[in-house]
Amino acid sequence: MKIAVLGMGAVGRGLLRMIDEKDLGITVTGIADSKSALIDKNGISAGELLAAKNERGYCGDKTISAMEVVTRADYDALVEVTPTNAMTGEPALTFIRAALSRGKHVVTSNKGPIAREFCSLKEMAREHGVQLRYEATVAGAIPVMHMLEHGLAGNKVQAVLGILNGTCNYILTRMAAEGLTYDQALMEAREMGYAEADPTYDVKGTDTAIKLVILSNTIWNGTAQLEDVSITGIDQLTTDALRLAEEQDHTIRLIAEAVPEKNILRVAPRIIPKSHPLVVEGSLNAITLETDMAGEITLIGKGAGSVETASALIGDLLFLSG
Ligand SMILES: NC(=O)c1ccc[n+]([C@@H]2O[C@H](COP(=O)([O-])OP(=O)(O)OC[C@H]3O[C@@H](n4cnc5c(N)ncnc54)[C@H](OP(=O)(O)O)[C@@H]3O)[C@@H](O)[C@H]2O)c1
Repeated sequence: MKIAVLGMGAVGRGLLRMIDEKDLGITVTGIADSKSALIDKNGISAGELLAAKNERGYCGDKTISAMEVVTRADYDALVEVTPTNAMTGEPALTFIRAALSRGKHVVTSNKGPIAREFCSLKEMAREHGVQLRYEATVAGAIPVMHMLEHGLAGNKVQAVLGILNGTCNYILTRMAAEGLTYDQALMEAREMGYAEADPTYDVKGTDTAIKLVILSNTIWNGTAQLEDVSITGIDQLTTDALRLAEEQDHTIRLIAEAVPEKNILRVAPRIIPKSHPLVVEGSLNAITLETDMAGEITLIGKGAGSVETASALIGDLLFLSG
């Protein structure tokens, strides 16, 4: 399988590292970061790309653009791992459309374009006889899309509940375990590298809501948008609320929930029994699917990370080549 990769940040580098270290049968024939790009139909060494990026801060030739990689390189699948823009999906949306219109598969970890333009991108892929795969956009390493597509094929999914943001889960876990205030737990999450300098997108529930939109549209072939989700973040939660929940053997988690029959599409802090399988600790993610035949299934795993996200991308790539 020949791939062109857009983005050499944490995720792009994790992917290149795994391609370099493991015998995956994946060859990089195009690559771009924000400042430069490289195209070579004979293949570019992933190890050398990582070394070059490390040494000088960019990967290739500054006269070549990312769009030229998409439109000129010789590849089977475009791996789109540039930053997420939740409002417009750009520039990823333009890259993805250009690749699909060339009849190339697309594999992405970028939530923006999938949440914004799910139906039109799926339709475009279908028209060109290729696939759009996005396992890595929701819950990092957890293979929920593969599970829905294969293991649970034929089931009717009645509801989905998830803990989809590791930063929020880390903060809530620490507030409950140590009696920390929200601000103290957030500061600790920043020190541990779990929270961004500006954590708004995570703690206000937006990131979780985008992932819920992607999950829900995938399961029910829907057209939900971010604006359809009722969202409450965790930034107003008090230590007292968590202590009260703890006293009753419950805890509080930021839960994403979609139940079409009840018209529920929401993200909110919820009180749940500590024994519930969704109650995972630290930065872990968890997803519970309620189905008609298989009953309730919960998947737990790492929701982010360089190699963990690469695992989801590679799963999609090898599915395409298999
Ligand atoms: N990190 C995670 O654990 C994780 C998990 C799941 C999903 N994701 C998603 O995966 C994507 C990548 O995440 P990340 O953590 O790797 O991001 P990141 O560290 O910010 O890296 C983004 C990369 O994209 C490049 N880039 C920016 N604009 C570009 C453009 N116009 N053309 C080509 N390349 C461009 C950047 O170039 P420079 O190197 O030149 O700055 C950088 O290499 C995001 O959409 C993110 O939401 C991340």
